[in-house]
Amino acid sequence: MAYDKNQATHEFTRWSESYDRSILQLLLFGPSHRALTRRLQEVVADRPARILDVGCGTGVFASKVRSALPNARVWGIDLVAGMLGKGQARWNHHREHVLAVQGDSERLPFATGTFDIVTCANSFHHYPHQDRAVAEMNRVLMPGGRLLLIDGYRDGLWGRLIYDVCVAGIEGDVHHASARRFRELFDGAGFASVTQRVFRGPAPFLLSEGVTGTSSAIKPPHFRPVAPVATPRSA
Ligand SMILES: C[S@@+](CC[C@H](N)C(=O)[O-])C[C@H]1O[C@@H](n2cnc3c(N)ncnc32)[C@H](O)[C@@H]1O
Repeated sequence: MAYDKNQATHEFTRWSESYDRSILQLLLFGPSHRALTRRLQEVVADRPARILDVGCGTGVFASKVRSALPNARVWGIDLVAGMLGKGQARWNHHREHVLAVQGDSERLPFATGTFDIVTCANSFHHYPHQDRAVAEMNRVLMPGGRLLLIDGYRDGLWGRLIYDVCVAGIEGDVHHASARRFRELFDGAGFASVTQRVFRGPAPFLLSEGVTGTSSAIKPPHFRPVAPVATPRSA
């Protein structure tokens, strides 16, 4: 059965209780966050930036971004209220600079051209319509804005074993896109320049980066944006 948002909600509502203590924080999430944070520091440095983190979970990465980038304002969005709820202490701690919103990656509740940077860490393989999610990430970026998306690198024998066999065996029919598929998705969404970097390790991951065109006409959203849903700490 194809993985859908009900399954994602069920999986992460259950997992939210122990998510921050998972061994995957050490093996996969931590290393991927470090790679992404380093890249953000190169790209943003101390400039003011509006950053959206899609599939933010309990806010581990969003709060690292806030700590690493002194002048950034961060919005985290996640489908699952339970995950946002477990991040309550983080949202409270960074309340002036980090805001949590409940919502779906495929229907981002933000106006076109809102953000300088969109990040997405370890979440993309859960999206049933990955083309819609990338199109939405492109839409909410301002011209010249940048998408930094990190997820499991499933090309090659080891990657397929880890992600297509082990992870899919645990999570169900999630879909880790190949590097080639990521390039197609980014191209299809209208990113003008796309680069990729593989990080090797026990659980290899891939950082795909796209920059939006600077002269693009404003694209209308494919749905009517709604006001952000209140967060667990009431945004
Ligand atoms: C493995 S966790 C990663 C959390 C965080 N980005 C990190 O690196 O620690 C995946 C997250 O994606 C969220 N998610 C799954 N499907 C989603 C969707 N359609 N829209 C937004 N978030 C989604 C889940 O609720 C979960 O919090």
